[in-house]
Amino acid sequence: MNNFTYYAPTKIVFGKGTESQAGSLVATQSCKKVLIHYGSGSVKKTGLLDRVKKSLDEAGVSFVELGGVVPNPRLSLVREGIALCKKEGVDFILAVGGGSVIDSAKAIGYGATNDFDVWDIFEKKASPKNCLPIGVVLTIAASGSEMSNSAVITNEDGWKKRGSNFDICRPKFAIMNPELTMTLPEYQTMCGSTDILMHTMERYFTSQGNMQITDGIAESLMRTVIENTRILIKKPNDYDARAEIMWAGSLSHNDLTGLGNGGNDFASHRLEHELSGMFDVAHGAGLAAIWGTWARYVYKDCLHRFKKFALNVWGVENCGTDEEIALKGIEAMENFYREIKMPTNLRELGVSPTDEQITELAKKCAIATGGKLGSAKVLYEEDMRKIFEGAR
Ligand code: NZQ
Ligand code: ZN
Repeated sequence: MNNFTYYAPTKIVFGKGTESQAGSLVATQSCKKVLIHYGSGSVKKTGLLDRVKKSLDEAGVSFVELGGVVPNPRLSLVREGIALCKKEGVDFILAVGGGSVIDSAKAIGYGATNDFDVWDIFEKKASPKNCLPIGVVLTIAASGSEMSNSAVITNEDGWKKRGSNFDICRPKFAIMNPELTMTLPEYQTMCGSTDILMHTMERYFTSQGNMQITDGIAESLMRTVIENTRILIKKPNDYDARAEIMWAGSLSHNDLTGLGNGGNDFASHRLEHELSGMFDVAHGAGLAAIWGTWARYVYKDCLHRFKKFALNVWGVENCGTDEEIALKGIEAMENFYREIKMPTNLRELGVSPTDEQITELAKKCAIATGGKLGSAKVLYEEDMRKIFEGAR
């Protein structure tokens, strides 16, 4: 068991109709002006934006707004948001949307309060001392950004997608009404479940030690997401299934499922970020497309965890060699991705990188990760290249 620090300061307000509390929750933050930040239109179509504005009006909170965040959120809009916050004296950001909107809000929060260029944070050239406080009305269960210390932004100059991790950006509160996720297209719901599973799997596959209670929480979370995603394929409006998955999304990425394990492999994530940076694919689908190839590449170096995963998450029968059992677990996971219509390779993801692009993806990933990556097995640039190549 490894030492750990656990910091999860976000107040969670969960359940039906909770978005009506947006105004009163913002009012407790003693702020003068709020930026309501949102995406490309779903919150207008569903009427959520109007309900949130009404709630702010009723609480006497003044606000400005900035929409237009796209999946794989762009640096150019972040810069626009920073300028707006400075001009309007914004001192709180309310993100109404998913991971892309929340991450864009976090980056704006950094840029508005630090005296260096915001991209320096994502290039690891500067550490932010400050961030504007952020609140969230969550509309998709996926990224876990509503409780995480991460923000992931894409710089259109070079199509570099880069993440940053600092506790000061963790949201002050997150309003989570599972009903709001019922308007999602099936593909986005499935991408979300994939991302949620992956946030726990990235922590679970580690060669750094283990902690029984953490593994138990992680395995239960994975089984719960699998079971309830299967329900949502048939019954997308099942409230309880939506609720299970939404809460799993937050727990999966607020660090709980890796405590004491010394894990944080995150290789599939870092490889995927290069894919969605270059090809603008949905993050969850990109993860599914890369995972099987990664798993087969590393499992022998982390055999005990892959065996445990097969037995405790997939119920694989405990007979045969450890390797055979581990491989059955990997197959079961890939079959699940097929069942929920997620891709299991790059072709199915809809991208066909050339040899030069494969080399470039690996090079960019190596630069972004300081040359090595992973905990289940440490990967270098050549390993990254082989995984991209194998996933084609
Ligand atoms: O922009 P709108 O019109 O709102 O449409 C969005 C978007 O097209 C739509 N959507 C969201 N809620 C909806 C809805 N459509 C109908 N009804 C609703 N209730 O769904 C699409 C995807 O939204 P997005 O915010 O991009 O999804 P997600 O939450 O998966 O976020 C993905 C981003 O988060 C990053 C990813 O890399 C990606 O850039 N991540 C952030 C993390 C973090 N900050 O901790 C961790 C993750 O590993 C991830 O890297
Ligand atoms: Zn993710």
